[in-house]
Amino acid sequence: MERYLLGIDIGTSACKVIAVDSHGHVVAKALAGYPIVSLQPGWAEQDPEDWWQATVKAVREVLAALPDRRAVGGIGLSGQMHGLSVLDHNDRVIRPAILWCDQRAAPQCAEITARAGGLKGLLELIQNRMLPGFTAGKLLWMREHEPDLFARIRRMLNPKDYLRHRLTGEHITDVSDASGTGLFNVRERTWSQPLLSLLDLSPSWLPSVVESTERTGFVRAELAEAWGLPAATPVFGGGGDSVIQTTSMGVIDSGPLGVTIGTAGIVAGGMRACPVPTGALQISCGNAPGRWHVMGVTLSAGGAFEWLRGALREIGSLEFSKMIELARSAAPGANGLLFLPYLLGERCPHVAADGRAAWIGLTTLHGTTHLVRSVMEGVLLNVRTIAALCEASGLACDEVRASGGATAEPFWLSLLADVLQREVTTVTGAAEGGAYGAVLAAGVGSQWWSSLDEAVGTLRITERVSPDTTLGPLYQARFNTFRTLYDTLGPVFAQIAAEAAAVARQPII
Ligand code: XUL
Repeated sequence: MERYLLGIDIGTSACKVIAVDSHGHVVAKALAGYPIVSLQPGWAEQDPEDWWQATVKAVREVLAALPDRRAVGGIGLSGQMHGLSVLDHNDRVIRPAILWCDQRAAPQCAEITARAGGLKGLLELIQNRMLPGFTAGKLLWMREHEPDLFARIRRMLNPKDYLRHRLTGEHITDVSDASGTGLFNVRERTWSQPLLSLLDLSPSWLPSVVESTERTGFVRAELAEAWGLPAATPVFGGGGDSVIQTTSMGVIDSGPLGVTIGTAGIVAGGMRACPVPTGALQISCGNAPGRWHVMGVTLSAGGAFEWLRGALREIGSLEFSKMIELARSAAPGANGLLFLPYLLGERCPHVAADGRAAWIGLTTLHGTTHLVRSVMEGVLLNVRTIAALCEASGLACDEVRASGGATAEPFWLSLLADVLQREVTTVTGAAEGGAYGAVLAAGVGSQWWSSLDEAVGTLRITERVSPDTTLGPLYQARFNTFRTLYDTLGPVFAQIAAEAAAVARQPII
């Protein structure tokens, strides 16, 4: 009899559910969306109830497509990282969840860093710098701005762990998602008691922590019955999406380097020891016990391309394929035009909330083809800058494993190989992202595979793209210039941001 595992990924815009058979084939999938609510610029919230309703809808759809839903052996979870959902003494949601892309807690992050004795002290405690997207700053923001709601907090959960709670009744997270709270000692794979004390936060609010492959409980009996699942369907640890999506590419060790070009870009790899933290890259526990995950997240990757497409569309509709055709028809190096892609500010390679995008080197010889190509090259030169940081922290970067929406387009893939001058491969499963990684981890927990190494060993290479080495010197020269740009322009961007803030503060007459 065929068996199935479900993978649920609670993303930023939708919940994706997949069913995978014992050969690793995706046999059914469904997507159900929900909105992001932004009450103020820089804020981003979601109602955890929306996550749950979307999950129920997508799970029902996937189960309806299976030949036998009683053959489901377990569920793996993945989800957007760093989101704060807070529950009261009855496990009721106190306020909408504050998401990973919410910037409100920047002042609280500075306060936490100061309380920890500066960046060095913080790196010692949690091996990461405190990014505004992380959970800890949001708790302090609540304490300051919503004291009544803060006083009611009894539990805090990451998005996928809120789902786990609805599925099983348990309060449990996994080591990779815990790493993104800013309250976790990533090196020791345990909550940072010293930081919790420094911040006067109650350890009793925190979920217990398991490895990604461990069982965390069973689907509640009444739910299993309603869905037609076996009575004791286990739910496994799973992981934070950026980490477990890298796992879905088969990257759990040092080499290959995982590059995901979605709206944002993720450059990441695995390690067998926690690296010495510098704050330049995010460090998380890996999904395999005894492994760590090192990553740099650039905020505008495929998003920069889509921004340009949207901007150009105002003067006439531009299909994705037409954009690619434009980019292809410009010569490599875009005739000297460079693009700095910090449209949303940046997280890595620069921690720069005030960062801005810029074209540098425009002349009358440049046309639309160069604009499009330079945006793609700029995104990938930025990826190369992060890859250099990864290499410096000890990751093997000789081969690049690619995933994400953009990499379904062959030109993006070959440009990635050319700009990085590395062989690029893609694998089965990676297209399903975090949901597939969650299935791999659940498969280990269900003893389909004896380890995550064995699980990722089942992934097959679907494409192999070699770089055009004759372009090596050109892209090396572009890279050398590109990486100096932010040093020069960073202060200008800060000034532009300050001027914009001053204008915004002026009274409207
Ligand atoms: C990772 C990060 C995002 C979110 C949403 O640090 O902020 O990738 O997990 O996908």
